[in-house]
Amino acid sequence: MTAVGTGRFGAVLNRIEKETAELRERGCPADYIPGLAGADIRRFGMAVAEPDGTVYGVGDWRTPFSTQSITKVFALALALSLEGEQIWRNLGREPSGNPFNSLVQLEYENGVPRNPFINAGALVVTDRLQSLTGDAAGQVRDLLRAESGNPAIDFVPEIAASEAAHGDRNAALAHFMASYGTIANPVPGLLAAYFRQCSIEASCADLALGASFLARRGVREDGSALLTPSQAKQVNAVMLTCGTYDAAGEFAYRVGLPGKSGVGGGIIAVVPGVCTLCVWSPGLDRRGNSVAGVSALDRFTTLTGLSVF
Ligand code: DON
Repeated sequence: MTAVGTGRFGAVLNRIEKETAELRERGCPADYIPGLAGADIRRFGMAVAEPDGTVYGVGDWRTPFSTQSITKVFALALALSLEGEQIWRNLGREPSGNPFNSLVQLEYENGVPRNPFINAGALVVTDRLQSLTGDAAGQVRDLLRAESGNPAIDFVPEIAASEAAHGDRNAALAHFMASYGTIANPVPGLLAAYFRQCSIEASCADLALGASFLARRGVREDGSALLTPSQAKQVNAVMLTCGTYDAAGEFAYRVGLPGKSGVGGGIIAVVPGVCTLCVWSPGLDRRGNSVAGVSALDRFTTLTGLSVF
């Protein structure tokens, strides 16, 4: 798709698309999920959604991609909206400083994950959502559909199956936590729900709109409240400190915004009260964050002067 950078930040988006061109040769697609390994690292899209629902972008901003860990933000928001502080019973809020699928810290910390954005923590959130709603993945998909206005957003069964077939590490995390009583649902069903959730495909436009409640102090597209302003602040804070795993410090330093990445190459970021951003480019660095995506967000906050700092 050609650049159509219109709107308040249109010129900035056009400039970022040009300036990040050479980075779209770097990084590798996620290779541990075979269904993602063939992604073309030259793809790039970036969208901005303003709080009134205006959305625009450049490059492949309307192309659906595998959202993966970005869904962890929506799952956390839903769980918080349903049970408030109870969600933190078996879940921390500290950066892990470890890779997103690491096992070691879990044993030292008695089966309680450091935060909701590493895989172990996301499994705890999906477990709670599963208990509370009976269909954790469906709830995440439906929230995204409603907030983006795109009813076509859906799971990709081949990606979920590909991940399940290579899901030994997530299975190990889940069984390990089950042994501590951290999760309540049977592990096979919980893993299936988690893989379905991660397999949701959506575009930069969908995700920027979908996460706009975080820029609107918890208010949904229809004017109702998903989260209280305080809960929206909390989700943004956990994104800032934990949303990019063991690179969260570097991301905060470079971008200065709450952000959440996924191994599909997408990253969402929030400028509270101003806009929500989503960037996608599948070439990942060694910590699982999009190389061109982090740079694009870095350029955005540098060029506009907009950050939470
Ligand atoms: O569980 C996994 O490994 C993937 N479904 C999601 C990982 C992910 O996106 C982490 N992100 N950077």
